[in-house]
Amino acid sequence: MPTSPDRPATGASPGPASAAVRPTFVRVDLDAVRANYAAVARHVSGPNAPLVIAVVKANAYGHGAVPVARALEQAGAAMLACADIEEAVTLRGGGIRAPILVFGALGISDLDGVFTHGLTPTVSSPFAARALGDAAARRGATVSCHLKIDTGMNRLGFRFDNLGHTMRDVLGRRGLEIGAAYTHFATADEPAHPLFDLQRKRFDESLRRLAGMGIRPALRHAANSAALLRGRDTWYDAVRPGLLLYGLVPPGVEASVPVAPAMTMRSRVVAVKGMRAGETTGYGARAPVDRPATIAVVPAGYADGLDVRMAGRGSVLVRGRRAPVVGAVSMDSITVDVTGLDVSPGDEVVLVGEQSGRRIGAGEIAAALGTVPHEVLCRTGSRIVRTYAGGSEPASEPASQHGAGARAARAAPK
Ligand SMILES: Cc1ncc(COP(=O)(O)O)c(C=O)c1O
Repeated sequence: MPTSPDRPATGASPGPASAAVRPTFVRVDLDAVRANYAAVARHVSGPNAPLVIAVVKANAYGHGAVPVARALEQAGAAMLACADIEEAVTLRGGGIRAPILVFGALGISDLDGVFTHGLTPTVSSPFAARALGDAAARRGATVSCHLKIDTGMNRLGFRFDNLGHTMRDVLGRRGLEIGAAYTHFATADEPAHPLFDLQRKRFDESLRRLAGMGIRPALRHAANSAALLRGRDTWYDAVRPGLLLYGLVPPGVEASVPVAPAMTMRSRVVAVKGMRAGETTGYGARAPVDRPATIAVVPAGYADGLDVRMAGRGSVLVRGRRAPVVGAVSMDSITVDVTGLDVSPGDEVVLVGEQSGRRIGAGEIAAALGTVPHEVLCRTGSRIVRTYAGGSEPASEPASQHGAGARAARAAPK
């Protein structure tokens, strides 16, 4: 293909179908999501196996909340978890009937949703306990909540070392039932960090203190993906994987669960052109090429979730080869160096996924950008069309729950 700068940019000829569909899209393999769930469930199986609370916050890490939640519900997830009431309401609107744990802080204006949509709120402050208990009492209802204990993250939660004081607002509060107590690790993906063990010990100590006050929740949980991979002493009665369900192993932790990425992102080359040595491409006119080069324009930019730090760091797959991202990442496009590759407009581009046996994973992108894979997945832009493989109609009955699941269903309000 052209290396001559005189050659005009050529546009992709849109086929009849592509006229209506932007060429950059995400495909989510729901069979992979279900298989990943099963792999995690197998990993934690055995006597006193913990429940699996499937984390589907942030639009199921960018994969699409409702189809993913439906797949996980079908796979037997005991409970789903999301960030706030609004996310939970979206799930209920999509027909999800499994118990839904809301991780985030409760605002007064949110409280109605807890009752009208049968959600399981997190109570992480005396204020939340009072507000929720009062709202329940006004309705003549009882709501089962999960108590969050802050063992060192220093974000949400009752401080582990102040429970004697703060639990006064929780103890015996009418309308409030404590279905679970949980904590969240700050350094589960850093095996050498001492805070991890400290948090576990503080959680155990907090559970003993709560028991001393007569609070003995049916469920205790702590482990995200990284923590559950590190060992069974974090499993308690439930584990809370997110990343593993989407097929990624947290960096820094040994991959002892066979999972496969559920998301691929593809696009098509829309233009190919030549550049002379010394020229640049894109905003800022940075990084001049030191030889005549052929570049391809791919219609996916930061508005689609691509990180601007991909410039000079990231690459895509085209014609089965890696093509580095050159020039700045724009809002709607990137340019990639395809010198020496026989690339034409219309050629498939893989931004995340596999092509001809080569693979670019969200984990690799995250490592190149100095971030976590979670961020790469979650940023997937809202204008990108998600298509689904392996979907099926929602079950007409409430999700079948394996034995452990039934326990969680009882622990949470319907
Ligand atoms: C409270 C809580 N538990 C579990 C998870 C799942 O984490 P991961 O995706 O690393 O498994 C998250 C995600 O951030 C979380 O906030």
